[in-house]
Amino acid sequence: PARAVDIVEEESGAPGEEQRRWEEARLGAASLKFGARDAAAQEPKYQLVLEEDEAIEFVRAAQLQGDEEPSSVPPPSAQAQQKESIQAVRRSLPVFPFREELLTAIANHQVLIIEGETGSGKTTQIPQYLFEEGYTKKGMKIACTQPRRVAAMSVAARVAREMGVKLGNEVGYSIRFEDCTSERTVLRYMTDGMLLREFLSEPDLASYSVVMVDEAHERTLHTDILFGLIKDVARFRPELKVLVASATLDTARFSTFFDDAPIFRIPGRRFPVDIFYTKAPEADYLEACVVSVLQIHVTQPPGDILVFLTGQEEIEAACEMLQDRCRRLGSKIRELLVLPIYANLPSDMQARIFQPTPPGARKVVVATNIAETSLTIEGIIYVLDPGFCKQKSYNPRTGMESLTVTPCSKASANQRAGRAGRVAAGKCFRLYTAWAYQHELEETTVPEIQRTSLGNVVLLLKSLGIHDLMHFDFLDPPPYETLLLALEQLYALGALNHLGELTTSGRKMAELPVDPMLSKMILASEKYSCSEEILTVAAMLSVNNSIFYRPKDKVVHADNARVNFFLPGGDHLVLLNVYTQWAESGYSSQWCYENFVQFRSMRRARDVREQLEGLLERVEVGLTSCQGDYIRVRKAITSGYFYHTARLTRSGYRTVKQQQTVFIHPNSSLFEQQPRWLLYHELVLTTKEFMRQVLEIESSWLLEVAPHYYKAKELEDPHAKKMPKKVGKTREELG
Ligand code: CDP
Ligand code: MG
Repeated sequence: PARAVDIVEEESGAPGEEQRRWEEARLGAASLKFGARDAAAQEPKYQLVLEEDEAIEFVRAAQLQGDEEPSSVPPPSAQAQQKESIQAVRRSLPVFPFREELLTAIANHQVLIIEGETGSGKTTQIPQYLFEEGYTKKGMKIACTQPRRVAAMSVAARVAREMGVKLGNEVGYSIRFEDCTSERTVLRYMTDGMLLREFLSEPDLASYSVVMVDEAHERTLHTDILFGLIKDVARFRPELKVLVASATLDTARFSTFFDDAPIFRIPGRRFPVDIFYTKAPEADYLEACVVSVLQIHVTQPPGDILVFLTGQEEIEAACEMLQDRCRRLGSKIRELLVLPIYANLPSDMQARIFQPTPPGARKVVVATNIAETSLTIEGIIYVLDPGFCKQKSYNPRTGMESLTVTPCSKASANQRAGRAGRVAAGKCFRLYTAWAYQHELEETTVPEIQRTSLGNVVLLLKSLGIHDLMHFDFLDPPPYETLLLALEQLYALGALNHLGELTTSGRKMAELPVDPMLSKMILASEKYSCSEEILTVAAMLSVNNSIFYRPKDKVVHADNARVNFFLPGGDHLVLLNVYTQWAESGYSSQWCYENFVQFRSMRRARDVREQLEGLLERVEVGLTSCQGDYIRVRKAITSGYFYHTARLTRSGYRTVKQQQTVFIHPNSSLFEQQPRWLLYHELVLTTKEFMRQVLEIESSWLLEVAPHYYKAKELEDPHAKKMPKKVGKTREELG
């Protein structure tokens, strides 16, 4: 349509002034309709007439009380922000006035819990204070852990800039498959998983003077395990300083866990945030998001927008939709900069979200919940929260792990809303109803340790010589069945013997920084003489689901390009094929472009592959190629993934052991072939339980690679078999 958005022409006044007046006029009108503006029951509405969309109706509900009065000063302009020297910015952070007090507390206590609002400077400042105070003398290092890769990278970059050093020199980061540190690096930002692996080479963390477990409230699996290990190390290393930093959540629990360690509170600086809910539930939150962003953009005074979505695919889709709409609206609206942020985003793109918004424009950052507490973006005034996050869940009964989009917790929702009140009074628009908030959201997020498989961690702990896992010092223990199943699976993979002791093969598996099944697959490639191919498969599986590029306007071309890579046998071989052809092209970006393959993902796969190749010697696997005999590759994969198998029955696919109904993902190369036996890399629960990355196998291979796990009888052809034994009683029998 020629005119999509109905907005008032600008006549006079400063930019933004007109918008504000217009909004007030609308608010005024709404207030008239609903009564006094300050009454709790008031329901001012934001309506924007978009010809192609229904505007979303929001109702104002409550105010998240801040500690400061709403400032009358607008957020600092871009130029002002740039002009301020980096040191002035450092001094302006809430933690700064407490520098001395904090350092004294650290000097006086071995363990200190530090609580502070997101953005107060915990992550970027405290390690610097410690550095300035001399904690890195005599070659000692300071570790600061982050649950997320992106956070580790971006925070390290920021701190390097603040200290005026090159990233990777005094300040660096270390994340899985990427090490940006050197001999000189004394401030090490790293993922919690990397510090965990440090224990393998240095069980007492002897080269560290301080360990700061940051973002502790996230309660990731690795952070939780670190707690137990660090508490132990701290006992016999009295000079080691332990800092546990957290947003304003859960700190009392951390204190109790660390034998009543003192809590140091950094007073927050937060402005009030107005919360709005939708009047009615939104069926399509992605679409609703896009409409709401435009609505905010057109009706609200200046200030950047932060949108919380659940993952890369969704974020890319939303960004594309937004850019598309903006393009169509053209000069009818002000400039809207659309910037994504998620874990796999390359660092140059990440840096863009921190750049100040040019005058007159507005920035919308579309993020995963990484922006909830790990990253602070200046200038956010509006938060748009659909109320979902991607969450892992695990069923210890079936051993199935799935990643699902689930409603976020109230704690999460409030953290998100809080992001709007950092620089001035803000607004948070929730794309769900007040009723849903009250009744459908859990209070807090369940710690990851209680909803994930533990194979990885159990293997690591066993390698560290911790045998009695049932009595490990957990902040919150994992479910008993989950631990048991992890032990069973590691036994089936040959990593543990029947006494639960680590085997030689288990020791090797722990050396590889990948899941036990993947490391088993790599070890098995020795037997099947195909490590070259298996390394590629492993690397490609690690970059996961972002190989193919599918632009909206070239869907047919992109799909054809993808189908051209298909090989009989299944998706793992397709991945191998893509990589091999890319390597033959000389790792060319042009080749990627022509074949609708994501160059960035491929580059990352190449890095991962190189790193894994570098580790082969340590695990005594030689470099060999299958010379086109893909059966060997498939058998090696089966050696690691015999747990993840499904067979075709009359009523579709069922997992072999647990008899769960599962489906081949429509993107799979085997979607139309429906082979009788297959294995899958992972299960993803969206509308159904989808198997992603599937490989056709033969049932006899299962007996070959895992004779201790499968019995010939259970692998008989289901069609030849009688109906399964009746388990429960029928309705009639129950009477
Ligand atoms: O850890 P905490 O949430 O307490 O704060 P922080 O991450 O240390 O952030 C302190 C300040 O540094 C904030 O004003 C951020 O905007 C800024 N910062 C940045 O500009 N770039 C980053 N990559 C990280 C932080
Ligand atoms: Mg932080």
